[in-house]
Order: sequence, then structure tokens, then C-alpha cells
Amino acid sequence: MGDSFFIDKYGRQIGNLRLSVTDRCNFRCIYCLPDENVTFLKQQHLLTFDEIIRLVKIFSRHGVKKVRLTGGEPTMRPKLCELIQRIKNETEIEKISITTNGSRLKELAKPLKKAGISTVNISLDTLDPEKFKKITQRNYFKNVIEGIEEAVRVGFDQVKINVVAMRNINFEDAAKLVSFGIERGIIVRFIELMPFKGNNWEKENMVTMDELIEKLRETFDLTPINKNDPSQTALEYMINEDPSKRVGFIASVTRSFCQWCNRVRITADGHLRPCLHNPFEVDLKAPIRNGASDEELEKIIQNAIWQKSRGHPDFLSTKFELPSEDKPMMKIGG
Ligand code: 5AD
Ligand code: SF4
Repeated sequence: MGDSFFIDKYGRQIGNLRLSVTDRCNFRCIYCLPDENVTFLKQQHLLTFDEIIRLVKIFSRHGVKKVRLTGGEPTMRPKLCELIQRIKNETEIEKISITTNGSRLKELAKPLKKAGISTVNISLDTLDPEKFKKITQRNYFKNVIEGIEEAVRVGFDQVKINVVAMRNINFEDAAKLVSFGIERGIIVRFIELMPFKGNNWEKENMVTMDELIEKLRETFDLTPINKNDPSQTALEYMINEDPSKRVGFIASVTRSFCQWCNRVRITADGHLRPCLHNPFEVDLKAPIRNGASDEELEKIIQNAIWQKSRGHPDFLSTKFELPSEDKPMMKIGG
């Protein structure tokens, strides 16, 4: 190796790349992008596999060990398994994960594993098919459940379920979701609802980690587990004194973990985005297509990373306002 790490001005060393491979999604989750009339990028504006591999190689030479594929919905990208295999074979990346809505996992779990995916995070906000339809604005409940079952069967290193908790929508389903996870040996993680452009975020709809814990304690005994990796976003609790059973909380709003954030994102259209909640992005696709050398790209990337925000604003402050110009979550990549 010998190359320097990508590092920001607060000393955070970047170890984790979240790569959005498409802005398309076959769901319309209300907390992500409720608009049905969304337009998607044309193919020529997406990074090609060759361009992605080139960037991943550069990142891995500078200390990135983990890549997470995101979207939109990453399985909407044609030939995704080919890309995964190439990341595995052609780069030094040690761990490839995917965040998916699960709707195509029944067919894809096996090929994804074979291509080189080691962990799968699946979004599932409720076990009630009617509520599922309300939240995702699509009718794929059965596909997702079968997808999860298949992912468990295939035997990834880890399968996790992500739940975005919302008041008056799925808060009441929390314990059922945890039981669903326990029965299958998979960890369920609750994410505090975050504001993004177009998602009509209201403080009142957000359920805090503390509220969730209180609610879950009506059903389970919960004991906090110490983190072994400070950059880990989830705070985990052991269930009923059984170390094999866990539940997690990603308290992005009430206990933000920006201080430990070692992640950067690449959007589907090839922009480097150092912070999820800051619209600042730097175009990588244009220089790539204009013939930039690896060295030039490295400089552009290091410069952008240097400017990574210290953290996101306090969403609960009365003064909080979303940045006026930003993309919705679907376009940034989860
Ligand atoms: N707040 C919290 N999490 C969100 N996700 C999408 N939108 C939001 C939001 N507003 C999560 C989903 C999915 C991942 C892509 O991002 O749970 O798992
Ligand atoms: Fe699609 Fe994920 Fe957004 Fe839902 S949260 S609409 S599954 S990208």
C-alpha cells in the first residue's frame, strides 16, 4: 500500500464507502421520497462499472476497507452481481455489504452471496401487510418476507433488518418486529426518522430511541452491550439476558455519532458526498470522463473529504431548517 489515508480536517480517517449504484427504486417509502412523479437518471449519467471499479481501487489504496452498495434500490441496477464480483476480485476491499428493500432477494440472495456480499441489511418497517402498503406505497410485502427468509437460508455472515420508527404508523409494531428477528436469528435495528428533502419530516413523527426502549421493555428484558467499534452507528442491547439475541438503535437524531463517522458516499451520478446531511458534493464523474489521472482524482477526493462537516445540525432545535438546495434521500443513497 504505502499510500496515505483519506482524512478530514477533524482527523476522521475514512474507512467506509457507501456506493449508490442507481437512484431508481421500486418502492416509494413515505420517509424517503413520497413523490410518485420522480424522474430518474438516464443510464449515461450513472457511473459505469469500470468507473466504479477505478474509484473503489483508489479508495481502497487510501484506507477504505468496506464498501456498502446502496440505491435507490441497488438491486434495480442491471448486472449488479457482476459489479460485486469485480469489487471482490479486482480491489482490496475486505467487506462488501448491501442495503436493500428486500423485494428481489428471493431470487437474488444466492447470487449476491456467491458474488461476494457478506452482510445484507433489509428494510422492513412493519409485519402488517396493510401498513406495509401504506409505508412503501407498494404491494411487495410477501416478496420482502420471502426475501428475508431466503437471505437467512443462504447464510450470509449477517442479515439485519432496518426499521424506521414513526409515531402513529409503526411504533406499535416494534415488539413484533423484534420477535420476528429473534425467531430467525437476525438483528433488528430501529432508526430514528431523519429529515430529508421531500419527506415532510416533523419532530412529532419521530420516535426516539429512549421511547422505543421503554416500549420494548414492556415485552423484553434489555441490557446495553458495549460497542466494540466506535464508528458503529447502532447502540445494541441484549435481549432477555441471552447474548445471541440483540436489538439495535440508530439514534441519528437524539445521539448523533458524527464524531465517529468514517463514511463517505458516492452518489449514483458519480458525486462524492462527504456527509449525508450536507449538500456539499464534488463531481468525480466529469474529471473521470475528461481523462483525469488517478493522482488528480486522489487530490479531488482528498480535498472534498477534508471539508467533511463536523456533524449534522441539531434536528430538534427550533432553529433547524433543511438546506434549501438538496436532494431527497433516494438520490443521495442510504
Ligand atoms: N430516516 C431514517 N432512515 C431512513 N432511511 C431512509 N429514509 C430514512 C429517514 N428519513 C433508511 C431506510 C433504509 C435505508 C436505505 O435508509 O430504513 O433502510
Ligand atoms: Fe426505496 Fe429505500 Fe427509499 Fe424505500 S427507503 S423508497 S426502499 S430507497
